[in-house]
Amino acid sequence: MAGKIPRAFIDDLLNRIDIVEVVDTRVPLKKKGKEFWACCPFHNEKSASFSVSQNKQFYHCFGCQQSGNAIGFLMDYEHMEFVEAVESLAQMAGLEVPYEQGQAPARSDHGHEPMYNVLQLCSDYYLTQLKQNQVAIDYLRQRGISGEIARDYAIGFAPPGWSNLSGDRKTLSEAGMIIEKDDGQHYDRFRNRLMFPIRDRRGRTIAFGGRVIDPQDNPKYLNSPETPIFHKGSEIYGLFELKKAVQKIEQIYVTEGYMDVIALAQYGVKTAVATLGTAINNTQIEKLFRVSKTLIFCFDGDNAGKKAAWRSLEESLVSLKEGRLAKFLFLPEGHDPDTYIQAHGKDHFQQQAQESSTLTEFLFQTLLSQCNVRSLEGKSQFLDRLRPYFSQIPLQSLKDQILGEVERQLSVKLDNRLLKILGETKTLPAEKLKLPEQHWTPTRLAINLLLQKPSLADHTGTHHDLADSDIPGINLLLQLLDFIHEEPGISPQNLLDRFRGNEHERHLYKLAAMQPAMDDKDSIELMFENCLQQLQKQYIHGRRKLLIEKLQSGADLSEIEKQEHKLLFTKH
Ligand code: UTP
Ligand code: MN
Repeated sequence: MAGKIPRAFIDDLLNRIDIVEVVDTRVPLKKKGKEFWACCPFHNEKSASFSVSQNKQFYHCFGCQQSGNAIGFLMDYEHMEFVEAVESLAQMAGLEVPYEQGQAPARSDHGHEPMYNVLQLCSDYYLTQLKQNQVAIDYLRQRGISGEIARDYAIGFAPPGWSNLSGDRKTLSEAGMIIEKDDGQHYDRFRNRLMFPIRDRRGRTIAFGGRVIDPQDNPKYLNSPETPIFHKGSEIYGLFELKKAVQKIEQIYVTEGYMDVIALAQYGVKTAVATLGTAINNTQIEKLFRVSKTLIFCFDGDNAGKKAAWRSLEESLVSLKEGRLAKFLFLPEGHDPDTYIQAHGKDHFQQQAQESSTLTEFLFQTLLSQCNVRSLEGKSQFLDRLRPYFSQIPLQSLKDQILGEVERQLSVKLDNRLLKILGETKTLPAEKLKLPEQHWTPTRLAINLLLQKPSLADHTGTHHDLADSDIPGINLLLQLLDFIHEEPGISPQNLLDRFRGNEHERHLYKLAAMQPAMDDKDSIELMFENCLQQLQKQYIHGRRKLLIEKLQSGADLSEIEKQEHKLLFTKH
């Protein structure tokens, strides 16, 4: 059964890690005032309304209202499960996650464990087969692949023959390793092929690519079909191996073939990956950008290469956030990264990569070749064509750079009319932070202040009498006070986490993100005291009104109410 992670550990973890660091490595933040800001990664926007509070250790978007702590951020941003997010943060903090009952829980495998197991067994089998097959070994050797690199990438060999694989038939079939025929027979999908295991980010084998050894066979490459654990469109070949081999990843070379990745690694370029026989998409690009801020797409110099490069450019645009760079390396016709590095060596390859086109250069090169911008018509045609690409770029500084290039290349001065063609409404003077109007009530303010500084509750009573009032939000405030009284010294982030999954969670984050005007830090106690006094007044006022109404309606007061009446009307 799934072991639970103790609350105390989660508390400790949330207190040790810094959400600013967790977010900043994924979504670069800028400090403005007390909080950190960025354009929200969860919805499309032009000005930053996504805030991260270091003090309270949570994020909140004033635009789309998404919020949460560091765990929640990883769950939403990296699509992790709760346990996975906790594990990931624990690793950052150098902590081991303790599980109650001393047992790691079943991860989010959704019952796919047998499939992972069977694929690992296949991989092991192919490895041992490679060792025994001289033809396959010779083939690798002839392509310049050493035993060491073959091992790093777990290259194996599927021997000839139709039924070499053994194991549970249903699982083998689900995993794409055998093909079942209508007549109930089945046969191995991969035969007489060099096998490249495709591994997920945890290193589990999820699929294979297989290359023919006999040039008579076809297709040249055969991939596993889509399975419950393998989706071509979101996987990338070589990413696991790359992360394992390289600590500080400066750039990733994005190639088109298994053998490109392997040949580059053989020559010491260990940060290459490949798509799996399909054009790259934005999901994959985002995945890569999260690992490295510079991507160098490598293509053949021929037409097919140019086309694939353009597609990569289109898919990259929306991901060009701050600090990210996409470059395009075009190799001479007839070359792929594999043959190129074999012909010219590592240094030359890397130098070419260094000098490759930036995205802006490639964008202009392509569009300029389509329009004659010496003519007026050509200029507006150029702007029309640029517009759909330009408008997808999320980063203003890159847009500005492109606008400058437009002026240079077209020899025009961009006025408002031309900017409008590009869909660029007049840029506002230096992005100003605009928060939604904040309506403060004593309850809201008290909650906000308590979340900033839970110790404010140390010297207040429980105020349970307030529960009788109908002041909106009062129950949430009282619940907060109770939590703090139960655990004096609790940190803001732990306090917020007490509401995980609670119906008030969203509301609470929203209140926590609001920023009351405060003159100096010392006044927070006074402000809080004031709130409580006002609430007390509101409460008394409400009770008095109620009792008066009751008396006026001719009803009798109960004993308690009579006492209350006496108290309320003498004291204040
Ligand atoms: P290439 O045909 O460019 O092969 O296919 P390559 O990578 O240079 O391979 P070698 O050097 O001849 O061994 C590039 C990628 O396209 C997919 C594979 O993922 C391959 O790595 N592909 C290619 C297929 O899926 N099926 C094919 O028949 C061919
Ligand atoms: Mn090749």
